[in-house]
Amino acid sequence: MSSQEQLQHLVVKKVLKADDFIKWLCFANAGMLNTGNIWCLDYAISHLPSQAPIVEIGSFCGLSTNLITYLKLKHGVGNKLICSDPWDFGASEKGGALAGHPYIQREEYKEFVKSSFIKNVSFFSKHDLPFAIEAASDYFFEQWVRQQNVNDVFGRNLHLGGPISLAYIDGNHSYEFAKRDFENVDSFLEPGGFILFDDSADGSGSEVCQVVAEVSLSGRYQLIKKSPNYFFNKLRNID
Ligand SMILES: C[S@@+](CC[C@H](N)C(=O)[O-])C[C@H]1O[C@@H](n2cnc3c(N)ncnc32)[C@H](O)[C@@H]1O
Repeated sequence: MSSQEQLQHLVVKKVLKADDFIKWLCFANAGMLNTGNIWCLDYAISHLPSQAPIVEIGSFCGLSTNLITYLKLKHGVGNKLICSDPWDFGASEKGGALAGHPYIQREEYKEFVKSSFIKNVSFFSKHDLPFAIEAASDYFFEQWVRQQNVNDVFGRNLHLGGPISLAYIDGNHSYEFAKRDFENVDSFLEPGGFILFDDSADGSGSEVCQVVAEVSLSGRYQLIKKSPNYFFNKLRNID
């Protein structure tokens, strides 16, 4: 950081009242944020191993996205945030009414949630818009592997690919999808990088618990904390 950036960071830190801001964010931004995730993301963002992007799988209405950009601001971190979400909710396959509702179609729900994301992020992250890619994570990572140029929902072009410093995995929570999200992230996560798995708390009955058990057994990750979700750091000295 240059001395001017350091000074700006100190000013920002002095002005921000962390808990208060997160409280106001959570009041206004629909979402599903376990409060224990705040500690993990705060820790990860203040200990990132490099300038490599942060990846979020599953953004919904942008609550965790806005939390991440806030924590980037708090810690004076410039790493790009790149998000993947198809905002589909069965609209493309099943179509039709949302849970049998006579007046609300799945397609309308999809558009409502996606536009909520855009509105929430445009307000709370106006200083640092994340790159939000409308795609399911499997396709997102296919594009990442091919180092493709993509357009985000704000109409900006982005070159995907390369190392990742932090991944927040909160997309499809079935074993098959969460495991694949882990494997894809793992191929690009730098040594010293972080992964937080949402919905992985012991005893929750979620299929993500099986994924985090396998990550723990791999010997390649250090468990930093169960908060209660599993929060890992990739070991630096692995073959
Ligand atoms: C639990 S919500 C995410 C909550 C969000 N992180 C928050 O802070 O409120 C799960 C989101 O994952 C998205 N999703 C489902 N399957 C996905 C996939 N294969 N890839 C990426 N996102 C997916 C859904 O559209 C939904 O918006």
